[in-house]
Amino acid sequence: MILVKNLKRYYGTGETAVKALKGVSFEIKKGEFVAIMGASGSGKTTLLRILALLDDATEGEYTIRGLEVSSLPEAERSYYRLTQVGYVFQDYALINEMSAAENVYILSMMEGKSRKESYEIALEALDKVGLKEKHNRIPDELSGGEKQRVAIARAIAKKPDILFADEPCANLDTNNSKQVLDVFKELNEKYGQTIVMVTHELWHTEYVDRVITFEDGNLVSDEKKRNR
Ligand SMILES: Nc1ncnc2c1ncn2[C@@H]1O[C@H](COP(=O)(O)OP(=O)(O)OP(=O)(O)O)[C@@H](O)[C@H]1O
Ligand SMILES: [Mg+2]
Repeated sequence: MILVKNLKRYYGTGETAVKALKGVSFEIKKGEFVAIMGASGSGKTTLLRILALLDDATEGEYTIRGLEVSSLPEAERSYYRLTQVGYVFQDYALINEMSAAENVYILSMMEGKSRKESYEIALEALDKVGLKEKHNRIPDELSGGEKQRVAIARAIAKKPDILFADEPCANLDTNNSKQVLDVFKELNEKYGQTIVMVTHELWHTEYVDRVITFEDGNLVSDEKKRNR
């Protein structure tokens, strides 16, 4: 599904360059739920942003579903990003003035789908995260866990190949974190969604198949939690 070879990302050049990724290689299979762990500054967000095509690598190759996305022209990269990659941010990144459904369907509208079709797609995605009844609520009327589930619905509405999540539970208490992790687990088990999630919490790893750990820009361990 995702094949990464000798991936490097340096910020700046010469002696003062920050080597955020120093040459990492790994493979993620279709349907895997993977946690990325490691101390602050170890390169987790840098990796996720590159794989989600939000940033470029300095060196190395990465293919997604056999497509060498690292060398795609920009127009195709942006099409791929819009249609095939789901990304969930730590702070939800929802629009406050819009209802849950509107936050989800705005991306479908951007793809050129009709309002009616976009609304149906949004309701289906909200249903998958258990929030169909609350589709009319604005973010202020939702709990932290519910807000993050709306953000997940927005990310999965386009049925992405891969769902990336960068510390999706960082601003949530334990209960809300569990809601969000349960949704990821269900998306993974019921719909076979491939998920790559950055986390700092050891107890979150009970939900995943595999834990990849980074240290100072290097991949230092790759541990299987359960067999698929
Ligand atoms: N835009 C940037 N310009 C310069 N250096 C950067 C930039 N983004 C990240 N870095 C540096 O690259 C290294 C890796 O950063 P990254 O954000 O990937 O870490 P992280 O593992 O996600 O950390 P955290 O757990 O705190 O989110 C750090 O040393 C960071 O300071
Ligand atoms: Mg980070």
